[in-house]
Amino acid sequence: MTLWVGTSWKMTKTLAEARTWATGLRDHLDGWAPEGVQPFVIPSFTATTTVREVLGEDSPVLLGVQNAHWEDAGAWTGEVSVAQAADAGAQIVESGHSERREHFGETVETTRLKVAAALRHGLTPLLCIGESLEVKDAGGSADFILEQAAGALEGLDVEQLAQVVIAYEPIWAIGEHGRPATVAELVEPFAALGEAYTERVAGLLYGGSVNLDNAADLLGIDHVTGLFVGRTAWELPGYLELLRIAEAHAAA
Ligand code: 13P
Repeated sequence: MTLWVGTSWKMTKTLAEARTWATGLRDHLDGWAPEGVQPFVIPSFTATTTVREVLGEDSPVLLGVQNAHWEDAGAWTGEVSVAQAADAGAQIVESGHSERREHFGETVETTRLKVAAALRHGLTPLLCIGESLEVKDAGGSADFILEQAAGALEGLDVEQLAQVVIAYEPIWAIGEHGRPATVAELVEPFAALGEAYTERVAGLLYGGSVNLDNAADLLGIDHVTGLFVGRTAWELPGYLELLRIAEAHAAA
């Protein structure tokens, strides 16, 4: 089993900062390939080609974009297509992050279209799902995220589904206003996701306030096969430490 450990930079980093982070990662991985771990990084669009150039074409680190449109080209002002993302060196297309659902109108239908577009171009779809605190408090977490996932993955055949990575990121646990989820809170949602998707998708990741203190415990939850990280990985030492934690977990 491969553990996916990646970071989205969200709307952070200048090109110089992106270059420094990626150069540091490339140099570290020159002498150390974390065994059993698939690293990935998802910068802002502006840094995609810079990070690709720094990492090189054959890097063990997969490169992604945080969003991409489902059409290949056309009159979609402000959008970037999967084809363009691939042309810039991306291998992963994220969709459905709760910040995009909340602020930019991402829906189950648009995530379905974006997952399909990524697959059409041979990229890995990284589908984010997650419930609000209201849904969680009403006891509806598992049903809610299963519905989000099923809607986005509707119509995929077995081979296509096997390319998809799912990241469960409860909204209440994300970002500086979130609070870290406890292992106990995540057991039931991951049991539900595991029953539906374990061995059928490429990865079932957890995201939301992952830090150096909770990463090992989170990786220990049944059906979790990776971590999708924001703040803790934005400074390279944090990301490298998460890779080490995952490598130790993979070897255990
Ligand atoms: P944080 O790790 O900063 O909570 O962000 C998680 C996230 O949203 C990754 O997509």
